[in-house]
Amino acid sequence: MKIFAIESSHDDTSFAILENNNPIWMKTISQTEVHKVYGGTIPEIASRLHVKNILLLLEEFIKLESIAKNIDYIAYTKEPGLVGSLQIGYIVAQTMSRIYNIPIIGLNHLEGHFYSAFIKKELEFPALCLLVSGGHSQIMLYKNETEFEIIGETQDDAVGEVYDKVARKLELGFPGGPIIDKIWEENKEIYQGHFSIPKLDNEFDFSFSGIKTAVINHYSNLINRNEKIDIKRISTEFQNTIILYLKRNFEKAINKYNPKCVTLSGGVSANKGIRNMILGLHNNVYLPDFEYTTDNAMMIARLAYEKVKK
Ligand code: KG4
Ligand code: ZN
Repeated sequence: MKIFAIESSHDDTSFAILENNNPIWMKTISQTEVHKVYGGTIPEIASRLHVKNILLLLEEFIKLESIAKNIDYIAYTKEPGLVGSLQIGYIVAQTMSRIYNIPIIGLNHLEGHFYSAFIKKELEFPALCLLVSGGHSQIMLYKNETEFEIIGETQDDAVGEVYDKVARKLELGFPGGPIIDKIWEENKEIYQGHFSIPKLDNEFDFSFSGIKTAVINHYSNLINRNEKIDIKRISTEFQNTIILYLKRNFEKAINKYNPKCVTLSGGVSANKGIRNMILGLHNNVYLPDFEYTTDNAMMIARLAYEKVKK
């Protein structure tokens, strides 16, 4: 079974081919360098760049010749995401489906992130997933291949968004996650403190905006009082807070649902501290390869494979 997939929900344009859960080919064009200037994604610019980038990918795809032959299904990201960006992937997928007479499947981006940890691997149920990205932060419970439930989610900002906003305030650059993670890695033995952790009614829900505000206020207060600013300390203690908070809720979910396996996915899953924390929580942890942590079409192809393989 050969699946061709398109992902275009946010600012990455990606094509991939998966054959029986073996990745054959993937090409992704990122827009990060463009949006960097604005400190976040500008939807209008994202749509226009998807048009340009998807044509570049189509040219590459056409050159593939034999490996792009005999495709059984075309999968694309249907939701959720930026409407203008999703439309571009949808139009191209529909056009290819009509021209080549191949069935088309529209899929959920978040489910795709879940399956990013199961490329080249099979999974066991029930499975619990901690999905942390620039747009989403949630705990997903998969009872079987098709049935999943979001048991906890952020009530405000997503984790990646908070990393990016804190990094912008501290003038560290964009995207903030990898920069703060690097500082944390080099200073975690020195600074072990953290900011306070919120408590919500649903024990699996998250709220990250209070942490963001606490870090930003702390930084502004130091400036106003003309006190010494230790960026390494603030960044490290910020990441300590995120790790502790994610651990607290995810550990509770593991204890309650007793899953056969757990996964971590989404762009923030590249974070070394969060990866290590998860590895300590369960004896059957699946982590996506680094190339599948950020938005990519291989995870959409993997999800499609799960839906159609029987
Ligand atoms: O899933 P993703 O590629 O994009 C969307 O959500 O659309 O995630 C991007 C996010 C950014 O906010 C970025 O700062 C964050 O993932 N990120 C990280 C790390 N690498 C990327 N956050 C924390 N630690 C990292 N190592
Ligand atoms: Zn994503």
